[in-house]
Amino acid sequence: MAKRLKAVIFDLDGIIADTAKFHYQAWKKLASEIGINLTYEFNENLKGVGRMESLNLILTLADKSYSNEEKIKLANKKNRYYLEFVNRMTPSDLLPGVVKCFEVLKGNNINIVLASASKNSLDVIKRLEIEKYFDYVVSGKDISKSKPDPEIFIKAAKGIKVATKNCVGVEDSIAGILAINACNMFSVGIGNKKNLYPADICIKDLTEFDIEEIYLIGGFL
Ligand code: BG6
Ligand code: MG
Repeated sequence: MAKRLKAVIFDLDGIIADTAKFHYQAWKKLASEIGINLTYEFNENLKGVGRMESLNLILTLADKSYSNEEKIKLANKKNRYYLEFVNRMTPSDLLPGVVKCFEVLKGNNINIVLASASKNSLDVIKRLEIEKYFDYVVSGKDISKSKPDPEIFIKAAKGIKVATKNCVGVEDSIAGILAINACNMFSVGIGNKKNLYPADICIKDLTEFDIEEIYLIGGFL
């Protein structure tokens, strides 16, 4: 049955800005300090996953165990490395197609929502000067379960009082695509189809975000 498209819910890191790269570089630096070689392949498992959960995954590669206090110190250190990158960001760090895509959505009266597991996401969107576009924001500070749990997308849809079936979710991580699919939302993967195989459609970046194609494939009016 046809349904209305009322909101597009965007992940931040790797969709709106290339901050996925900064998270990787910050984790890699921290990991090497404790004798772990964090590979690009292993990093795929960290995308979309919260700070502590990511650290716990990295520490599965360690040959010693860490106390909670040590883990908090390590997570804080990684965040300081990450913020060194964020503090240098400007609107020129927006990924291609972001502003045009937001303008098209606004022109079609479709809500724009942020659903990012990052506790730094508000700082990042301020640095990028795109706060004004968002009708609602859910960040890592508002959730208790990491993607692939659908909590963040359910909260995002609730925040604008729209049913999940009337939303589209946009993600670059496998955890995020699984979270979108788990709450009956149409999923748009950004990146490699091989990694994001459960996505309803997959595109290279937001320059390829085609609202007409989404209406059609997603069965929206
Ligand atoms: C997600 C990123 O958006 O946010 C993850 O994809 C990151 O890589 C997570 O670990 C948490 O981010 P932060 O900024 O709260 O450490
Ligand atoms: Mg992401």
